[in-house]
Amino acid sequence: MSIKERVLELLEQSKGKSVSGNKIATSLDVSRSAVWKAVNQLREEGYSINAGTNRGYCLTSDNDKMSEPSIKKYLRTKALGQNIDVFKTIDSTNSFAKSLAQLNAAHGHVVIAEQQTDGRGRMGRHFHSPNCQGIYMSVILRPKLPIEQALNVTACAAVAACEAIEKICAEEGAQISCQIKWVNDVYISGKKACGILTEAAVGIEQGGLDYVVIGFGVNVNNYNFPDELKETATSLRAEVGESVSRAKLAAEILNILEEKIGTIGDRSFLEEYRRRSILTGKTVDIENNGITERFECVGIDDLGKLIVRRRSGEELTLSSGTVKIVNG
Ligand code: BTN
Repeated sequence: MSIKERVLELLEQSKGKSVSGNKIATSLDVSRSAVWKAVNQLREEGYSINAGTNRGYCLTSDNDKMSEPSIKKYLRTKALGQNIDVFKTIDSTNSFAKSLAQLNAAHGHVVIAEQQTDGRGRMGRHFHSPNCQGIYMSVILRPKLPIEQALNVTACAAVAACEAIEKICAEEGAQISCQIKWVNDVYISGKKACGILTEAAVGIEQGGLDYVVIGFGVNVNNYNFPDELKETATSLRAEVGESVSRAKLAAEILNILEEKIGTIGDRSFLEEYRRRSILTGKTVDIENNGITERFECVGIDDLGKLIVRRRSGEELTLSSGTVKIVNG
């Protein structure tokens, strides 16, 4: 770790309180001027650090920067998030995480950005990723699972996102209820608050999943949305009425995801997924490869596929598609 990162770690530990330059210098075994230099670098990166004569440095508690220490402070995981790369700007955290995975990055490696210039959604769509407002986070997993379980990894991630959002919003005093629109969109009060893009590679030799990259895009403290999203998207700030800590929420998603991934084999998370599913019982139009068909949604099967019924009564299961609800 660089001096700057170690200074940040110490300031994070006493967020909202002053720590003397002398104390930081002694505990890191560096000079006071090195601490001063590091503090200035951190300020240039956007951290709000107050300094007063004889009072030392104070990382103000309204800071909501995404950094390795600010996230690790809330982590309870064994593997997920033990390595975190944080970028100010990147094209897509999923694209970067995929290249890392191809270079053998370990299970649990996380890539986060404050902003994405080419955030990607499902079906080649764009994901709106404004600076310092949302969580744009990709997690590399190497689950020992057969390929047919790939959809369940996404389903598991959606459940983890729902639980984490509800928990962190509850800590802010707001009772939020998250629902899932198959396969991976998290909705609050009928609007999308989080999207998840899962990309996987198959290992020919092991005959199962080689790696899975799960990309979470959460609208956390968005001030506004572009016109095309205004009617359909929401943010946690809009739902809670005040801003929500992105670092805390990102860590909680990782905490819960690690627990849930361990249960994919016994499918206990699927019960929760089904309970949160907004499609069951609805009439929907599903578009696949340019063809749209109307169905009744029957439920979710044990592999995370959508069970739908044609007007003829014939039932089938789908593993992909863009779903539009027809009746409310
Ligand atoms: C969707 O809404 O269809 C999925 C959106 C997924 C967005 C996240 S943001 C972090 C990660 N990097 C990306 O480019 N996409 C995912």
